[in-house]
Amino acid sequence: MTILGIETSCDETAIAVLDIADDQTITVRSNIISSQVHLHAEFGGVVPSLAAREHAKNINRVLEAALKEAGVLDIEKEVDLIAVTYGPGLGPALIVGIAFAKSLAMLHDKPLVGVDHMRGHIYSNWLNKSFDRKSVKFPILNLLVSGGHTELILMTDYEEFKLIGETQDDAVGEAFDKVARLLGLGYPGGPLISKLAEQGNLERFPLPSPMINSKNFDFSYSGLKTAALYLLRDLKATNIELDDQIKADIAASFQHAALEVLIQKTIRAAQEYNAQAIFLSGGVSANSLLRKKLHAAATELGIPYSQPDLAYTGDNAAMIALAGYFAYQKNSATAQWQTLDMKPNLGFN
Ligand SMILES: Nc1ncnc2c1ncn2[C@@H]1O[C@H](COP(=O)(O)OP(=O)(O)OP(=O)(O)O)[C@@H](O)[C@H]1O
Ligand SMILES: [Mg+2]
Repeated sequence: MTILGIETSCDETAIAVLDIADDQTITVRSNIISSQVHLHAEFGGVVPSLAAREHAKNINRVLEAALKEAGVLDIEKEVDLIAVTYGPGLGPALIVGIAFAKSLAMLHDKPLVGVDHMRGHIYSNWLNKSFDRKSVKFPILNLLVSGGHTELILMTDYEEFKLIGETQDDAVGEAFDKVARLLGLGYPGGPLISKLAEQGNLERFPLPSPMINSKNFDFSYSGLKTAALYLLRDLKATNIELDDQIKADIAASFQHAALEVLIQKTIRAAQEYNAQAIFLSGGVSANSLLRKKLHAAATELGIPYSQPDLAYTGDNAAMIALAGYFAYQKNSATAQWQTLDMKPNLGFN
């Protein structure tokens, strides 16, 4: 089966061609991503109307590149299914991808499946070269961490997801972005904080890990961001110059506080729900310390662990094509361009 995946939920215009062989082997034939991140950087976050305009401007070019790289000459003859993100995401941005996908499906008479972007992130683990699909055992506990989401999701089978905990306010990626802005580092903040933290001393300015001792599996990040804000304000009031070392120390302390609660709650939830594996996913799964620490914690618990290859941690359409495949396997009857509509607030449960 050959699937054309389309993603425009935020600030990446992405199209991929994916093959699934009869023996279930997955081959990513192309995975083109056109990022708008530099355009939004000056606003410190994604501007929906600007994102939509850029998607509309670029999507044809991204399709041509994806088809060319995959060696697809004729969509009608060579593609079996079209998959497009229909939520969650920015309405104006989602509409562009959906309208484009509908036109392609109508023109080439193809089934069209709407894909949950967050399921796409979870399935990005299946794209790893080393991933052994036959050895997958459920339930899998997923830690899904991105710019808009911080969730623990129990996956009991393909297409069976249960939300067991989530952030009560800011997402962890959003907290990285906000603290990076406070430190004057630029956008997106995650990779910048993570790099700076390598030079920092995390014990110099201890910051709190909100909700780390709460019995549930929820998270909260607005308090941590505020603690960083007050720390900076207090330092400025003492006329201390915020030199690179101080910034690195704050970055290290913030990163430690932000990650510790993720790791501890994931491990506790894995034990409580008798998880057979722990999977990490979402944009923040690019964080090298999180990858290292969660892997070590899962290994210590004796639970198999998976994280996406770095090529698939951020938004991409290969994961959307794959999630579209699983959604279509489960229910092919509704895969029609005539009825697909966006769901900007789509969520688990
Ligand atoms: N190395 C890193 N360390 C920490 N955070 C990171 C790192 N790399 C990226 N991020 C964060 O990941 C987020 C982007 O992830 P992603 O693209 O999946 O989010 P999104 O698609 O905007 O949101 P969602 O997937 O919830 O709709 C940003 O907040 C960014 O700062
Ligand atoms: Mg995302």
